Amino acid sequence: METINWDNLGFAYRKTATILRCTYKDGAWGEVESLTDDNIAISSFAGCLHYSIECFEGLKAFRGKDGKVRIFRPEENARRLQSSAASLFIPAPSEELFISMCRRLVKENIDYLPPYGHNASLYIRPTLIGSNPQLGVKSSNEVVLYMLCSPVGAYVGGTLQPCNAVIARNHDRAATYGTGRFKVGGNYAASLYALNIAHQQGYSAVLHLDPAEHRFIDEFNSSNFFGIKGNTYITPKSDSILPSITNKSLITVAEHLGMTVERRQVPVEEMDTFEEVGECGTAVVITPVSYIDDKTRLEDKDITKRYSFYSDTECGPKSLRLYRMITGIQYGEIEDPFGWCTFVEE
Ligand SMILES: Cc1ncc(COP(=O)(O)O)c(C=O)c1O
Repeated sequence: METINWDNLGFAYRKTATILRCTYKDGAWGEVESLTDDNIAISSFAGCLHYSIECFEGLKAFRGKDGKVRIFRPEENARRLQSSAASLFIPAPSEELFISMCRRLVKENIDYLPPYGHNASLYIRPTLIGSNPQLGVKSSNEVVLYMLCSPVGAYVGGTLQPCNAVIARNHDRAATYGTGRFKVGGNYAASLYALNIAHQQGYSAVLHLDPAEHRFIDEFNSSNFFGIKGNTYITPKSDSILPSITNKSLITVAEHLGMTVERRQVPVEEMDTFEEVGECGTAVVITPVSYIDDKTRLEDKDITKRYSFYSDTECGPKSLRLYRMITGIQYGEIEDPFGWCTFVEE
C-alpha cells in the first residue's frame, strides 16, 4: 500500500483495497461480493447509462480520539437512499443490508481510514444503478448496489477556511415539482454548467434559489445553506432541496446549545441581516461563506449585489461552536448525547 499524506487529502478519488457489490435480480438481493478491481462491467444498454437511473449516498467513517471507529448516522443515509430509489421506481436495499455493507466496507479498507488528528475521514459512497439492458424509457428491474470508499480531508480549501458563492438567476439545478429533494445523479448533471462557469469566475460554489420565483434561498450545489442571526440558526425549507443529514444534525445541535432554530422560506435579501453564513453537508461539514454575489446572468460580469458575512479568513463564532460539537461527536472527543454513531468492531 502506498504511503498516504493524511494532512493533504482534499476531496478526491483514491483507490482503496476493495469495493462491495450486491445485485438485485429476479425480485431478490444476492450475496454481497467484495472486489479488488474498481472497474465494473455492465451492459452498455443499462438504464443508468442512458436515462440516469441512478441514485447515491455519501457518509463518513471516523477514527476517534479513543481509537474506536464510528460511522455517522448510516441509518439516515439508508432511508434517504430508499426515498431516492422510490423516486426512480427501482428496488432499494433494506436499512440492515445498507448498514452491514457500510461496516464491512470500512473493515476491509481499514488501512485507508485516516488516523485521528488529521481532520480527515473515510468517505463512503453507496451507489445504486439500474443495470438491466433496456432501450425504452422505463424503470430498471435489476439494480446493483456498489459501496465504494475513499479517504478524504477538506472539500474546498482547508478546514473551516471561508469560501465564496454566486447566485445564478438564469440557471436552476432542480424544478419546482422535480427531483431536487432526492439524491439522484441527474440533479448533479443539471448543476454542472453553472458550477463550471462559477469556477471559471473564481467562485467555489453556486447558491441556487427556489426555481418557481427565484425569491427564496434553496441550497448550494452540493450542500445546504444556513445563516446565523443573533442566537438563531436559520435554514431554508423547500421541496426542491436535498434533506441534508448534516443540517438535520446541526439543527439538533443548535437547539442543544440553546440556539433558536428557524426552518422556513428565506428571502434572498434577508442575507443582509445574517452575521454568519455557512455551507453544511457530509463533504463540506461546515464551511463558512465569506461573501455571495447575486447575478442576473451568470455569464455576465455585472453583479447586482454582494452579500458579505463574518470574515474572509475566519469562521464565525456560532458556526465554530456548531462545528466543534458535530465533529466532536464524530471523532469521539465529546459524549454523543444523541446516539448518532454506529461503531465498527475491528
Ligand atoms: C445538493 C446537496 N445538498 C445537500 C447536501 C448535504 O447533505 P448531507 O448532509 O446529507 O451530506 C449534499 C451532499 O452532501 C448535496 O449534494
